[in-house]
Amino acid sequence: MLVFVPPHPLIKHWVSVLRNEQTPCPIFKNAMAELGRLLIYEASRDWLPTVTGEIQSPMGVASVEFIDPREPVAVVPILRAGLALVEHASSILPAMKTYHLGISRDEETLQPTIYLNKLPDKFFERTRVFVVDPMLATGGTVLAALTLLKKRGVDNKHIKVISAVAAPPALQKLSENFPGLHVYTGIIDSTVNDKGFIIPGLGDAGDRSFG
Ligand code: PRP
Repeated sequence: MLVFVPPHPLIKHWVSVLRNEQTPCPIFKNAMAELGRLLIYEASRDWLPTVTGEIQSPMGVASVEFIDPREPVAVVPILRAGLALVEHASSILPAMKTYHLGISRDEETLQPTIYLNKLPDKFFERTRVFVVDPMLATGGTVLAALTLLKKRGVDNKHIKVISAVAAPPALQKLSENFPGLHVYTGIIDSTVNDKGFIIPGLGDAGDRSFG
C-alpha cells in the first residue's frame, strides 16, 4: 500500500483551516470541499486513462488528449462527512458517477454499521473508484466500504482512498487487508484516543460540516 501526503501549500492551508476549532460550520464545509478537490486532482494524476487524436483549432491542426469517456470513474462518498469532501469532485472529473454509502460508527463500540448502500451489484471491471471519507481513525469504516467494493468486483489497484486526516491504526488495517491500495490524505496524525477520535485531528467532521 502507498500513502501520499501531497506537498502542496494549498493542501496544508485547508488542513489548517479544518484543524482550527474556531472555524465556523460553513467555512469548515467549504475548506473540506476545497481539500477534496485538491486531493482528487493529485490522485487523478497518471491514473485516469486518456484518448489521443487530432483536432482542428481555429489556427491549425493540433494533437489532443482527452479523458477517455469509455473508462468509468466513480466516487463513493461515505456519509455523512464524505459528502463535504466530495462536493467539488464533479467540477474536476469530466464524467463521474456518485454511489453513496452511509456508514455510522457506534460511539461506544466504534464498530461501523452500513445504513445506506447505493453501490451497483457489479462494477464494470476497469471502473476507477475514489472512496472519500475525511477521517481514517480506527479504520473500521473504510474497511467496511472497501470490503463492499471488493465483493462488487473492484480490485485494489482500481481504488484510491481520499481522506483529510489519517491515523496509524487505519493505515495499518488498510495495508494488511488491501495491499496495492493507494491512499491520499491531507495529513497523517499520530494517535487515536479511546473514543476513536484522531489527535489532534479536526474533531467530528460530520458535525462540523453539517451542524
Ligand atoms: C466518522 C468519520 C468516518 C469514521 C472514521 O464518521 O467521518 O467515517 O467516523 O472512523 P473509523 O476509522 O474509526 O471507523 P461517523 O460515524 O461519525 O459518521 P458521520 O460522518 O455521519 O458523522
